[in-house]
Amino acid sequence: MQNSSAIVIFGVTGDLTARKLMPALYHLDRNSRLPQPFFIIGFARRQWSDQILRQQLRQSIRIAEDTGGQETSLAFLQNCFYIQSDFQDWEGYRRLKQTLVEKQIVNVLYYFAAPPDAYLNILEGIKLAGLNHDFPGWVRVVIEKPYGRDLSSAMNLDQKVHEVFSEDQIFRIDHYLGKETVQNILVFRFANGIFEPLWNRRYIDHVQILMAETVGVGNRAGYYEQAGVIRDIFQNHLLQLLTLTAMEAPVAFTADAVRDEKIKVLQALRPYKGEDALINTFRGQYVSGVIDGKRVIGYKDEPGVAINSTTETFLAMRLFIDNWRWAGVPFYIRSGKRLPKSVTEIVIQYKQVPLSLFGWRNMAGDAPNLLILCIQPDEGITLTFGAKAPGPIHQIAPVNMSFDYVSTFGSEPPEAYERLLLDVMMGDATLFTRADEVEAAWRFTTNILEAWEQAGLKNLPVYEAGTWGPSGVDEFIQRDGRKWRNP
Ligand code: BG6
Repeated sequence: MQNSSAIVIFGVTGDLTARKLMPALYHLDRNSRLPQPFFIIGFARRQWSDQILRQQLRQSIRIAEDTGGQETSLAFLQNCFYIQSDFQDWEGYRRLKQTLVEKQIVNVLYYFAAPPDAYLNILEGIKLAGLNHDFPGWVRVVIEKPYGRDLSSAMNLDQKVHEVFSEDQIFRIDHYLGKETVQNILVFRFANGIFEPLWNRRYIDHVQILMAETVGVGNRAGYYEQAGVIRDIFQNHLLQLLTLTAMEAPVAFTADAVRDEKIKVLQALRPYKGEDALINTFRGQYVSGVIDGKRVIGYKDEPGVAINSTTETFLAMRLFIDNWRWAGVPFYIRSGKRLPKSVTEIVIQYKQVPLSLFGWRNMAGDAPNLLILCIQPDEGITLTFGAKAPGPIHQIAPVNMSFDYVSTFGSEPPEAYERLLLDVMMGDATLFTRADEVEAAWRFTTNILEAWEQAGLKNLPVYEAGTWGPSGVDEFIQRDGRKWRNP
């Protein structure tokens, strides 16, 4: 990759650049993984200069690295430049082009980190200035979620994106796919002979996918009020975890072969309309409570949240994948803000033995065979099973066989954004979502959104911050004779 290359970050002044993109670029640079020379061009509305941009980026790297005040080598920041412009000011795009030409850029990567309502203007600006071609090397675009807010807006956005870029230039990012442990779902399933034969309706009782966060909405109410868990997490991260857990083996580990299998899972999801959507979903909203020993405010008291808001901060759902592998196996999905612990995991619960020989009360309830894929924070895989406790009487105790990333490989897995940015530069779209996947995910999600809207709930069930959701959520799963696994 010895070519003058640039990343142009639209919305460079925002939170995503500071928290995720800059630390990732810094690590890539430190590990000599960026093409040389490499330029970072920020494009945003605020009155910043090159100098301010560099200071801000330096600061964000320091915070992310937690260097304890120690100086890190940030020579690469000398190649950062700032273009101050409104997103609908075409003159700004002309200046951007001039900068890229002056720097003799060969390859260019556009990163949409701006508010989504600016996306159409940015596309238009890129097109008018001819920024989508006119470079000797590659031109690619990364588009952050939310990719639309329902099926029709997603399709509209996609049409506009395709007017400017071809599909092989487009990288729709879902950072969950960049997590090592998420990729390991496929390796675990398809690089080992022993698990896959047990990965189906014959042996599996049900699957739980949990993405819990202790954080609240923070300063993102402007976005979150319009999104809720369903648009923020479910439509993308959770459905992606579901597809990787449920998909068939691809014919090869290539972008299209993998995505061809993932889309089949989304297409096989049993659609929920009207009453079905209401019965199979359970929403909640947090009120004040205690997290890590500290009292935190309720959702409606967060800055920017409407006093009568019905935005869900908690969502549980029961899904069915109507295909030969999974018919009849429920997938229980849960996600929420201000839950007691930040943890993402996929739990496969196996069926009980056909006959209980040891007088054990209820293996399924008390010592079930679970396969737990922990995505974060204790990245690893655990298999739990019953073992004979020592002693003259038959007593069975639940025990674990575990694999832990850090103790096995000696370090924390790298940040998702690092891997994903590198993949874009290498032109590998395997870990990005294809247009038809996004569409299928929205088709399923939009039916639910419509059913909720028709039902017109005035109040959502509430849960205290620091608890595992509203009280009724236990009955939601207990009516199927099952229970949540709360880590
Ligand atoms: C983002 C959501 O996509 O993912 C946030 O917008 C959420 O609301 C975040 O907090 C969680 O990501 P991670 O990698 O910290 O689990």
